[in-house]
Formats: sequence, structure tokens, C-alpha cells
Amino acid sequence: MFWNELFWIGRALVLLQLIPGILGWGKQGHFAVCKIAEGYLTEDALAAVKLLLPDAGGDLASVCSWADEVKFHLRWSGPLHYVDTPDFRCKYDYCRDCHDTHGHENMCVTGAIYNYTMQLLSAYNDSNSQMKYNLTEALMFLSHFIGDVHQPLHVGFLGDLGGNTIVIRWYRRKTNLHHVWDNMIIESALKTFYGSDLAIMIQAIQRNITDSWFNEISSWKSCTSDRTVCPDPYASESVHLACKFAYRNATTGSTLGDDYFLSRLPVVEKRLAQAGVRLAALLNRIFVSQTLIAQE
Ligand code: ADE
Ligand code: ZN
Ligand code: ZN
Repeated sequence: MFWNELFWIGRALVLLQLIPGILGWGKQGHFAVCKIAEGYLTEDALAAVKLLLPDAGGDLASVCSWADEVKFHLRWSGPLHYVDTPDFRCKYDYCRDCHDTHGHENMCVTGAIYNYTMQLLSAYNDSNSQMKYNLTEALMFLSHFIGDVHQPLHVGFLGDLGGNTIVIRWYRRKTNLHHVWDNMIIESALKTFYGSDLAIMIQAIQRNITDSWFNEISSWKSCTSDRTVCPDPYASESVHLACKFAYRNATTGSTLGDDYFLSRLPVVEKRLAQAGVRLAALLNRIFVSQTLIAQE
């Protein structure tokens, strides 16, 4: 009986992994974002990350999908992975859009980015905050949500749940539009261009950052009026890209193939780059030349 139950729990877990659209960028997208960020961290930020992630040996990329893994267990965290906007408006507005389905304010991806940044910052100003907050979880949530807010369909339309209800074919495979942007574009790129090796894809994006996008980096990193964190422009960019690239020529019943894949892949690669560079810039601002009081 016990083994039988274990078997079915195992089956259910495998099935849950396969249900598209529930997770953020797929595991590979989040890993890429955090790997790219690691390359731009200052000494101070690296030291803080190491202190907060002792079990991961300070490797941010290895815990970048943790927030997806706990989503079913920590039910309240589900709405923190995205923010939905009114249909076809292609505009994002924090006050109008950042709430969960019960209307609880700040329960969305940009609200979560503000919240976890505040938790980590407060560790410097208030030694009690280490009793109040779990700073390890704050860092893992923050790193994950910076990735999510850059996935265009994580700032998509309310009516189709960010493309989750738009059933399409990706080449011959039946899936939905949200899953295409979380996983399939990256998976097809890995197979077609990068010998199925994520490390090679990440290297190619890193080369683009230093070669092609070099002039844009400082504008990617900067926040208006020298704030520590500014997720709202990232969400606005995402919904614009959702309208211009994700939703265009993709309605229920569409078959998406080479035309769609080859024209959207550059958008995905640039969003992964921006998320990585901005995550590093944010962590560098949070962990600036101060000594984090070690967590007991
Ligand atoms: N559920 C509802 N809207 C969503 C979105 N934009 N992204 C992911 N999951 C969602
Ligand atoms: Zn997510
Ligand atoms: Zn997703």
C-alpha cells in the first residue's frame, strides 16, 4: 500500500512538472539569468551571496528555480510570479495591475521585487530583521522574480492568463503560448544552435553583452532618481514585447514554426541578458560595502 501511494505521488509530481505555464521561465532560463548575473557581481555582493547560500556553496544559479519548486507548497507565493494587465492595452500600471485575484494589493511580481529588496536592505539597518525575515529565501525569491518580470508573457493579458489559455502547436507539438516563451524557444535554440549545451548558449549571450549590447548596458542597469530597485520599467518593457512579439501571429489554433522561432529568439536572448545584468546591478546596490551581520 505504502509503495503504491509513493508510486502515485511520484506520477503526480512528474505530471505537475509537465503541465505547461505554471512555472516561470523554465529551469534553463532562470539558470541562465542567474549565471549571467554571477559574472557581474562585486566582491561585496559575492561575499553576501556566499553567506546567504551556504548549502548551495554560494552558487546563485543552482537555486534560481527554487521559487518555482515551492510554489505548490507555499500557495500564497503563486501570484508573485507574474502581473496581468487589461486585455490588448499593452500598458502596465502598478496601482491598477499589482494585486492577486482576491484584490490583495502588492501581490504580483513587481510588488514581490520591492518587498524582497526591502527585506535584504533592512538587514543592514536593523539587526532584528534577521529574526523577522528569512534572508536566504529573500535572495532566492528576488533572483527568481527578476527573471520572471523579464519574460514578456509574465506581464501578459488577464483574459488569457499570460498566454496560458492560448493553445497552439510548436512545430508538431501541442502546447500553449505561455509555455513557448517559458521553455520551447530556449529548448529549440539549444537543440538547433548550441549542441544542446546550456553553457554554450549562456556563453553566446555573454559575448553579445560585451560585443553587441555594450553601449546599452549602463541604461539597462540604471534606476531613475538613483533608487535601489525599479521593476516597473521592466514590466512595461515586457508587456510591450508581449504585444509586439509574443501575441502577434499567435492565436488559438496557430502552428508556430521557423518564422516565429527565428524572429523571437533574439528577443528571448536579449531579455535573459537584461535580466542577468540587472539582477547583478541590483544585488551590487543592495550589498554595497557593508558587513552583513551573519545569520545564526
Ligand atoms: N497565471 C495567470 N497569469 C499568469 C501569467 N501572466 N504568467 C504566469 N502564470 C499566470
Ligand atoms: Zn516563476
Ligand atoms: Zn511562466
